[in-house]
Amino acid sequence: MAKWDLTNMLGPYLDRHLVFPLLEFLSAKQIYDQKDILEAKLALLNKTNMVDYSIDVTKLLHPNEDAPESFKVRRQEVLNQLHQLTDEASPTLNLLKNDDVMKNISQQRDTKGLLTYLTKEHNFNIENMESMYKLAKFMYECGNYSATTSYLYFYLIVTPPTDKNYLNVLWGKLAAEILGQNWESALDDLNKLKEYIDANTFSNSLQSLQQRSWLIHWSLFIFFNLDKGRDLIIDMFLYRPNYLNAIQTMCPHILRYLATAVIVNRSRRSALRDLVKVIQQESYTYKDPITEFLEHLYVNFDFEGARQKLHECQEVVYNDFFLIACLDDFVENARLMIFETFCRIHQCISIGMLAEKLNMKPDEAECWIVNLIRNARLDAKIDSKLAHVVMGTQPLSPYQQLLEKVDSLSVKSEALIALIERKVKQKSGDNRWGQQQEFNN
Ligand SMILES: *[C@@H]1O[C@H](CO)[C@@H](O)[C@H](O)[C@H]1NC(C)=O
Ligand SMILES: *[C@@H]1O[C@H](CO)[C@@H](O)[C@H](O)[C@H]1NC(C)=O
Ligand SMILES: *[C@@H]1O[C@H](CO)[C@@H](O)[C@H](O)[C@H]1NC(C)=O
Repeated sequence: MAKWDLTNMLGPYLDRHLVFPLLEFLSAKQIYDQKDILEAKLALLNKTNMVDYSIDVTKLLHPNEDAPESFKVRRQEVLNQLHQLTDEASPTLNLLKNDDVMKNISQQRDTKGLLTYLTKEHNFNIENMESMYKLAKFMYECGNYSATTSYLYFYLIVTPPTDKNYLNVLWGKLAAEILGQNWESALDDLNKLKEYIDANTFSNSLQSLQQRSWLIHWSLFIFFNLDKGRDLIIDMFLYRPNYLNAIQTMCPHILRYLATAVIVNRSRRSALRDLVKVIQQESYTYKDPITEFLEHLYVNFDFEGARQKLHECQEVVYNDFFLIACLDDFVENARLMIFETFCRIHQCISIGMLAEKLNMKPDEAECWIVNLIRNARLDAKIDSKLAHVVMGTQPLSPYQQLLEKVDSLSVKSEALIALIERKVKQKSGDNRWGQQQEFNN
């Protein structure tokens, strides 16, 4: 299964704290040697302030040895530094402990008013925020994510977006919210960051491309943990040209997550066409059983191939940190897609043949189809005498047809522009890092 594992590809786009949950997952799946995972974990931990965690992992790696002295020294250093940073930030920390102030903060909508109030009544000085920033960062490295979120929350309220730490603070808060599993707040932060990145022209386009690629990776935690996330991910990854462009140029492996989101949501079948186009364009840079499943089904109409890929897909989904929770939805919907596509080609199908295509027994298949029809998920009738499924026809009104065309036209033109841009870059002898060249000049 290691063949399909994306942890190595995702890692470079994640903060190191965000990699820990992925490693925990891999360790539980036993895809890799446990010792290798522990070593990877330790290498990451040694760059943080989580000394106790490092000691635990070291003990697991070397059960018969005492933890080295150096850990104790390091631990004392961390405590001293924490003490010092807390001291420096204490004027602001005291504000956060003051109930009146907190009440005023939660009710004041206007930053100016709040600042006037804080300065007048509580001797607040905006320059002290630098020490809060340092403390929040240190707390984060210690693994105290709840302290980090509350300090950074305050930071964002009192500082303007032009503040030099502002972007870092947005990233820090997002990471801390994700690690605290506060998905709704994390989603708010994700949106703030998206707005910030989209509104600010970075000094070069490579930089904004990188920021977007990071955001795409971090957002996976949120999208696959929030119910509405599987819907939001389609809007952001597929229908925001900037993000789709980032995926295509920097991280086509993200197509696995986009494809899964489209597959599990039956009401987003219209996205399928657009997705399949992207998958086809990228098939020379990225492929896995999930993207191949869609290609077999919607490009080649190869039902046997799709059925085999579905089998592999189950393994992939089961062993993917982000996707495992979608497993049942995935299988059910993928089966349905095979079925629907098959039915679109054939107006009238014998249940025996369908059962064969879906790996089911005939009576099981009939039951499944009856249920689909009953839940209004399939427009068809069963002719039980002949053991046939007869598909209903849903003629689209001309108006609907027009809407569909217009809809796909804008997507098509965007794809075309992207294609032309890429061709041009290829011609200048540099297909992927056009931006970098610009940056270097
Ligand atoms: C916040 O402080 C301002 C300024 O002192 C005051 O006018 C306002 O009533 C306070 N609001 C709350 C909710 O305490
Ligand atoms: C995190 O930091 C806060 C503030 O210093 C502290 O009250 C809390 O106990 C810490 N939490 C953990 C889990 O260490
Ligand atoms: C699928 O998409 C629809 C429409 O955008 C949305 O309302 C629904 O919540 C989504 N369902 C799932 C399971 O994500």
